[in-house]
Amino acid sequence: MSLENELLSVTCTAPVNIALIKYWGKRDEEKILPLNPSLSITLDVDDLRTKTTVVASKHFDRDRLWLNGKEHDISSKRMQTCITKLRQGAGDLRSDDGTLLIAKEEWKHYRFHIISENNFPTAAGLASSASGLACFVYSISQLLCFKETFPGELTTIARQGSGSACRSLLGGFVLWECGIAPDGTDSIAKQMDTGDKWKHLRIVILIVNDQQKKTSSTAGMQTSVQTSDLLKFRSKEVVPVQLSRMRDAIKEEDFTTLATITMQESNQFHACCLDTFPPIFYLTDVSKEIIQFVHDYNAKCGGTFVAYTFDAGPNAVLLTQDENLDKLVASLYQRFGFFPVTREGVTSSVCESPQSDQII
Ligand code: ADP
Ligand code: DP6
Ligand code: CO
Repeated sequence: MSLENELLSVTCTAPVNIALIKYWGKRDEEKILPLNPSLSITLDVDDLRTKTTVVASKHFDRDRLWLNGKEHDISSKRMQTCITKLRQGAGDLRSDDGTLLIAKEEWKHYRFHIISENNFPTAAGLASSASGLACFVYSISQLLCFKETFPGELTTIARQGSGSACRSLLGGFVLWECGIAPDGTDSIAKQMDTGDKWKHLRIVILIVNDQQKKTSSTAGMQTSVQTSDLLKFRSKEVVPVQLSRMRDAIKEEDFTTLATITMQESNQFHACCLDTFPPIFYLTDVSKEIIQFVHDYNAKCGGTFVAYTFDAGPNAVLLTQDENLDKLVASLYQRFGFFPVTREGVTSSVCESPQSDQII
């Protein structure tokens, strides 16, 4: 069988993840090595996913990417690094009966056309770079029959597309390790907990503004690293303590502690943004009203029933437990006059890797 004139294609989808312990700041901009470890939950929610199709052909003259229907620059150093590393680890493509279809050395003659769609706002602080780059890396790796040379290698490649993307390759509670090796091979993402005991956790997304933010996460954290003393203190002194408490809370199925640390982390991250010079404002007045609402709600109910977390954008991610969901959603409707976009989000169900559907 000759594949000389065939188009090879693969389609994958990848979920977003939301950091409970935040990543903000790099110690190495080139390799995307973080200042501190971070911990996230992969959101197994249909409403928040990237779907990417990669087509490979020897007849394409260059790699091209279309994002949400518009051609997008693929010449960035990050995407090129991912493609180069994926090509280096490419394997032989064989048919089901073992016949060699494409030898691994042949892949260097192939170029990619990549079509990607996010079914939620892009660059609005809902982790589109996480699902987007995870899907980018995973789908190319599937097409190229990529073979890891060490466990977690694929996460190190996704990390170089966008830091938070390494965590979207795994399901459940995911830890992105800081690492110490200068080449970054030990800064990998690992599943810390399957989340099987957290099936009652629910996610509520409140879209405050779906427009592209003014300051990208990459640019924002660069200025923070240069100017914020609070960020230095946080990454050295605060994160290790909070991470260890969070690990225990997850193990002990302790929602109150998980919720409390999640809110503290979100607040300290946004405090670092304010401590950045010039300051970065990702939260709007409505975001702050949501924060106030959560604290009032918990005080009224006499416990910690709901938590908020905000990434680099104004949109809120609320965490609660199944038994409280209906009451919370009703209160949100009463207060803000709209139903949340997503309330089905059973988080932490294991999502080993994005689904893949290889068509040759
Ligand atoms: P977010 O808060 O949504 O993660 P970022 O500022 O971190 O925002 O990153 C947004 C950028 O990520 C986009 O401008 C785009 O370059 C990239 N991106 C988002 N989705 C995709 C995708 N599906 N495929 C490739 N790149 C993507
Ligand atoms: C606030 O991963 O988007 O969402 O590595 O520069 O692409 P780059 O940044 P990105 O930063 C995410 C920051 C955050 C917190 C988090 O996801 O941990
Ligand atoms: Co991002």
